[in-house]
Parts: sequence; C-alpha cells; structure tokens
Amino acid sequence: MSDINPTHLDKTGKVILDEVYNQKTPVSFYRAIEQLDYKLPQLAKPAFTKILKLLEQTKGRPDLKLVDLGCSYGVNATLLKWNFSLDEVFSHHRSQPEQAVDWGEQIRLDQSWLKTNEPRLLNIVGVDIAQNALDYALAAKIIDGMVCGNFENHTLDSTQRNKVRDADLLISTGCIGYVTQATIAALLDAMAPKQPWMVHFVLRMFSFDDVERLAKERGYETIKSRHPVRQRRFASMEEQQKALERLSAMSVDTKGYEDEGWYYADFFLSRPKGENQAPLPADLQELFVV
Ligand SMILES: C[S@@+](CC[C@H](N)C(=O)[O-])C[C@H]1O[C@@H](n2cnc3c(N)ncnc32)[C@H](O)[C@@H]1O
Repeated sequence: MSDINPTHLDKTGKVILDEVYNQKTPVSFYRAIEQLDYKLPQLAKPAFTKILKLLEQTKGRPDLKLVDLGCSYGVNATLLKWNFSLDEVFSHHRSQPEQAVDWGEQIRLDQSWLKTNEPRLLNIVGVDIAQNALDYALAAKIIDGMVCGNFENHTLDSTQRNKVRDADLLISTGCIGYVTQATIAALLDAMAPKQPWMVHFVLRMFSFDDVERLAKERGYETIKSRHPVRQRRFASMEEQQKALERLSAMSVDTKGYEDEGWYYADFFLSRPKGENQAPLPADLQELFVV
C-alpha cells in the first residue's frame, strides 16, 4: 500500500494515515482508503439523505447548511451534494496520475468531473486539521466554506465562528476518536444560540458517551443506530488485534463484526428536544432504536 505501513499504529491502535490526510491533491488518499475497502461514507449516505429530508420538512426550507467535521478532501460533500457514489470517486481518482499533475490542473480536472453531476442545494462547510485537504476541497468547489484548526484545546475565532454560524446539521464520519467532546463543544459554542442537529458515525471501539452527555447538557436527545455499519477492513492483523482488545475491554461483542476483519461504526442522531416532537418517519425508525 503506497505510503502506508499497515503495522504502524497510533496510540488508539489504528494504522497511521497522516501521510495521505494532508497532501496537496486527494489522489493518494483515495488510493490508500480504496485499498482498505473504505465503505463508511457510502453506507452513511442513505441515513444522511433521509435525515436531510426530515430536516428540510422540520425547518420548512430546502436551503440547508451542513458542517462536516473531519471532512478531509470533501468526501461526504462529493457524495451528498454532488451525488457521486464512493466507487465513482475511487474510479475517478484511480485514473489520475499520483502526484504528477500540477495542483491547478488537478482542480480543473476534478471540477469538470464534478460538473457532470448536478449539485443539490446544500451549503457545506468543511472543518479539518488538514489545511491542504481543505484548500483542495474548497478550490475544487466540492465544499462551500472551510475552517482549518484543532479545536480540542482552542475555541473558534470570530472568522471561523462566522463560517459555521447558522448550520442546520453537524456531521462526522470517522472523526470521533481523533477528536473528543471538546471539539464538539467548541463547534456548538460557535454555532450558539442556534442548535444544529448532529449525526456522528463512530467506530465501535470509541465510546460516544462523553459526546452524548455533552449533547444532553445542551438540551439534545440522542438516538443510536439499530445496527452498526462497516467502516473498512483492518490494515493488518496487528490493527485488528488492537481493536479486538479495546472492544473486549468495553464488553462489546465482536462476533460477526470485527472478528470478521472489518471495523464497524455505530451512528447517532442528536436533535434539540423542542424539534423532535413528531414521530420519526418509518424509513428512519428502521435505522434507529426509538
Ligand atoms: C478517517 S478520516 C475521515 C475522513 C472523512 N470524514 C471520511 O469519512 O472519509 C479522519 C479525518 O479527521 C481529520 N482530523 C484528525 N484530527 C482532527 C482534529 N483534531 N480536528 C479536525 N479534524 C481532524 C483528519 O485530518 C482526517 O481528514
């Protein structure tokens, strides 16, 4: 696997992908995650689409604003706003030279590829620690705005607050674990007094309890997915072993899930209490324990 050592693990036991998270173009990122059979954004897409529909009905307007925490090169935006499948994204980037094309040329190529689909009305602001990934996603117009920073120990400054203000939905896929409830608190503070709905897809080996507690303190109610979804294959036996150890310490039954060689993620929907009076539509009741 290019650039990635599958046995080089971080302190949580996950393979270190820093090498591809912050390149000037997304080519090596998509190649690396395709090799790991990364599935999460594609499996998350139906849930996001259904939640966006309910949110549109609840707010009574179609022009929603979404903040994607840990957006990377705009993966979720490419799927949700530009309506590509993850396989199409992989196939597009597979056909690109790894780093040979210059940056401006890559942006032009990707923009004209994106424009083969009609974007939906959705204002997406990406938040990430990776400046290059954000710069690419914004320049290619995959996302509409960006905030670069690590909010584990910092609040957002006034420019950053303006970017995330008025968000209707805060989402993340594969970012909790890199970030804790501290980052969620910083974002919610920056968005206050408005309270966005939240949907987080979280690896089962990371507890969501602290974020759920924070959300409760802020007047949210949280519901959890009925069934976990696949995130990606383990990069190595070592990575799987570490995950199984963590999950065993959390008393999570891994039979039929991580035992089979895949990371799994649960997902959580948090809504402000005043906005969840009506029963969930049937297509969402199927997804969540209600
Ligand atoms: C596993 S990737 C997920 C990317 C994308 N959401 C997806 O599902 O394909 C994790 C992302 O979290 C970002 N990240 C890591 N630490 C972060 C932090 N402290 N604040 C914001 N983003 C962070 C990484 O740069 C990377 O883009």
